[in-house]
Amino acid sequence: MRHAIGIFDSGVGGLTVYKSIREAFPHEDLIYFGDTARVPYGPKSADTIIDYSVQNARFLLQLGVKILVVACNTSSAVAIPSLKRLTNIPIIGVIEPGSKVALSTTKNKKIGVIGTEGTVKSQAYLKAIKAREPEAEIFSAACPLFVPIAEEGWQDKPIAESIVREYLSPLMENEIDTLVLGCTHYPLLKDVIQKVVGESVTLVDSADAIALYLNNLIEANDDTSIGTDTFYVSDNEEKFATIAENILGKPLENLKRVSLFESWFIE
Ligand code: DGL
Repeated sequence: MRHAIGIFDSGVGGLTVYKSIREAFPHEDLIYFGDTARVPYGPKSADTIIDYSVQNARFLLQLGVKILVVACNTSSAVAIPSLKRLTNIPIIGVIEPGSKVALSTTKNKKIGVIGTEGTVKSQAYLKAIKAREPEAEIFSAACPLFVPIAEEGWQDKPIAESIVREYLSPLMENEIDTLVLGCTHYPLLKDVIQKVVGESVTLVDSADAIALYLNNLIEANDDTSIGTDTFYVSDNEEKFATIAENILGKPLENLKRVSLFESWFIE
């Protein structure tokens, strides 16, 4: 029996991670869970995010996944140790891969990190980068309005550029040469962010970083059959499907809603 890679996020944004993994591993079965009933995680307390993440992970573990990918930066920032207590299968968050790529990219060791309030407050990127390179200087900013802009599909409108400029101008005063997009939604604003920060700053996309990282865990095999995709959400599947189509550029198939109470607590 083939086992899938399980991916979870607070909602639809983690599809940027799903997309990178799908492109890198066409033969793997993928199961995605978006916690659309409880999104956003960004402004919530670490304890609440840990509780939600543990429940999300249990749901995927019950489906027999072989690797668990925590696409949500906010969950990755605070919940990985709790998730590791649930299972022996590999659990990959986005912080480690993103930090590694940032360090291999920077030349002046001045790295900007943007994310939700929860991610920035946790200092998870700062700690992960400093653990590898104590001389690195990290400049962080929470950019909460980027999430609704991406979900509205407004990334090409003038308002997106004004908001990006407002959040990122203070960061740019620190002469960063690398900027980590530490939130699932931010890769969707890549073009406008690049325009604002200029070509001298390299953007690190945590969605791509995690796909690269998975290479070490997935054994090459001769299986040439195309991998299956299954999507679960905890609410609002119509809205999820609409935004998903915007992110993936094609309609979603195989999308189901799961009730928090019927299936999540089957031990
Ligand atoms: N998925 C979240 C993250 O990457 C962003 C959306 C939210 O706040 O839940 O941090």
